Amino acid sequence: MNASPYLTLHELVKKARQKLNHDSWDYIVGGAESETTVRRNRLALDSIAFRPRVLRDVSQIDATTNFLGQRLRLPIVLAPIGGLELFAPEGGNAAAGAAQAFGVSHMLSSVCEPGLEAVAQAAPAALRLFQLYARGDADWVDAMAERAIAAGYGAFCLTVDTAYYSRRERDLAKRHARSGNMPQREFQARLTWSDVARLKARFAIPLVLKGIATAEDATLALEHGVDIIYLSNHGGRQLDHGRGTMDILPEIVAAVGGRAPIIIDGGFNRGTDIVKALAAGASLVGLGRMQCIGLAADGQAGLVRLLEILEQEIHICLGLLGVNSLAGLDASYLHPAPPVGSGETLGAFPLLTLEEKSFY
Ligand code: FNR
Repeated sequence: MNASPYLTLHELVKKARQKLNHDSWDYIVGGAESETTVRRNRLALDSIAFRPRVLRDVSQIDATTNFLGQRLRLPIVLAPIGGLELFAPEGGNAAAGAAQAFGVSHMLSSVCEPGLEAVAQAAPAALRLFQLYARGDADWVDAMAERAIAAGYGAFCLTVDTAYYSRRERDLAKRHARSGNMPQREFQARLTWSDVARLKARFAIPLVLKGIATAEDATLALEHGVDIIYLSNHGGRQLDHGRGTMDILPEIVAAVGGRAPIIIDGGFNRGTDIVKALAAGASLVGLGRMQCIGLAADGQAGLVRLLEILEQEIHICLGLLGVNSLAGLDASYLHPAPPVGSGETLGAFPLLTLEEKSFY
């Protein structure tokens, strides 16, 4: 018997909107400049329909997966989010705690409180990955890798799509200062493939590059020994006029050729979205804004509830596709289709607009 008051994802979205002030809400849902990339993420997902198969025994559904040697209840990573403490007072502890309680993986951002050692202590059993923004020279980056290893993180991730902080016009228009002016930001712009080679040569911890968005860079990453390819356009928060990540996924899958797991994020709001990426060849799906929404609605419990609802959606989707487990999914279950929505960040929840159109 589940006592949670939330039966649908859009109820969590609505609660988060009620609890957050306008600045924090815009920080979550907003993107760069015209927010074209944000919309393309949703449109790319929305432009895929399913090809369901029937009359297979689907009485048992297993949506678990193995990742980095750990069993995950769903193929999900809570994407790195800077400043989670804006949405839930416990910040990264609440997200990692939800990952541990439910059984998914968590990637901690280096710009999230209370920091990597404290979060490791808060969720020792979770599969925890650590993501870094370079805010210092090579020695500084290496020292951060050493701290992540010492704190038991399962992988070290460099985010590589943030050489410059984009113009987030929702913030600029309100004169709302954000981390764009952060000191030491130039170190991020100076990163090159030689930094990747140095990290691989010095540390045994699996290395992830987050923000790969072309087959060429996926190939280069593999040539440099990168262990996990993280396909992302930062949820449309960095380069505007990028492609939707689900449009990019096929070329990354072809370039990687099964040699490394692929994580994808960008616009994944629903269980059906997640199933589409898995069918197209991704290993894990990252949740960015939805994670913020779960935490803002009701802290760690809100995020666990969000994952429970996503699990129900994924199980039902798999069963209706005629598939018992993730291993049974492939691209034959997908078909191009005209998009239904117009690409709003939370356009997967049309019932929200019925109740209160101003949420968008
Ligand atoms: C982010 N993202 C991000 N990425 C990263 O590598 N380090 C970070 O500190 C942050 N911070 C951050 C804050 C907020 C509020 C958001 C919404 C996003 C990007 C994030 O990891 C992920 O790539 C996108 O959010 C995925 O898109 P969706 O799921 O938000 O549509």
